Amino acid sequence: MSNDIVIEAWNTVLFEKFSRFKYLFIEGYASISEEVLSRRQYEKGAKVLDVGCGFGDCTLQIARSLGNDGTAIGVDCASNFIQECEKSASQEGVDNAKFFVADVENDDLGGPYDEAFARFGTMFFNLPGLAMKNIRQSLRPGGKFTQVVWRKREDNPWLHAAELCVREIVPVISHDETDAVHCGPGPFSMAGADMMSDMLQSVGFERVQFERFDSDICIGRNIEEAIQFALEIGPAGEIIRLAGEEGERLKGQVFEALQDVIGQYVRDDGTIWAPSSAWFITAFNPA
Ligand SMILES: C[S@@+](CC[C@H](N)C(=O)[O-])C[C@H]1O[C@@H](n2cnc3c(N)ncnc32)[C@H](O)[C@@H]1O
Repeated sequence: MSNDIVIEAWNTVLFEKFSRFKYLFIEGYASISEEVLSRRQYEKGAKVLDVGCGFGDCTLQIARSLGNDGTAIGVDCASNFIQECEKSASQEGVDNAKFFVADVENDDLGGPYDEAFARFGTMFFNLPGLAMKNIRQSLRPGGKFTQVVWRKREDNPWLHAAELCVREIVPVISHDETDAVHCGPGPFSMAGADMMSDMLQSVGFERVQFERFDSDICIGRNIEEAIQFALEIGPAGEIIRLAGEEGERLKGQVFEALQDVIGQYVRDDGTIWAPSSAWFITAFNPA
């Protein structure tokens, strides 16, 4: 099945939006990846695949931890993200970080890898089972896959409360009703632990384990930035974008309504921190 629409979205509109808020994605999510990577220390010399690597900040962090004999390899379907990754690796002098463009659902991922990792890089697959199988087949026997995905929307109010607020104001157009490119299933598609465990086992992974990790994350250096972030990113941003001209017209009204939603997360120094909740999911390729 072709993934062209989703790949085009990540290479164009979503790449532009992510670039505008790059600081928040890198700094805002850093505490989550620091935590998961501190719990999963990779062996020196290992070969690790970073799935849906985005700007590659996790790939670089993993590469640094592996020593000169190890390699971290970031893969993403969007060539624009991969170009950014290559620039960062070169600027930061991380020679053992490599990157390539591939659709994780359909393309050869190389390997065998000792480990695979993904921070929020797997939730947008159209055919997640196919992608999980491909990742497993790229691992060596006994290789481990660790992925971070968002838990249920109610425990991630920075995305969900903004979505509810937008739904009250902007007409919702589903992916089927538009020709516009879209991001795929969305950030909460892997929130269900039972569903994820069944899916991973159905494609041959074993010893599936879940760790819940709750933390406050920075969603803006001030309230305007946090509201802009909510207007552009996640389900709220997708509803507005897919509503086209009507969405643009209603943006001002949504901005006002979001003042109350986001206002409750302002800290004394003016920065905005909201509760978030993620799963760290570990699964093994059979030995
Ligand atoms: C939410 S971003 C996460 C990026 C990064 N891991 C992070 O934590 O900041 C999801 C990433 O998955 C990539 N992606 C989506 N579908 C993909 C696919 N089928 N194959 C490879 N990458 C994909 C997107 O291009 C995007 O960079």
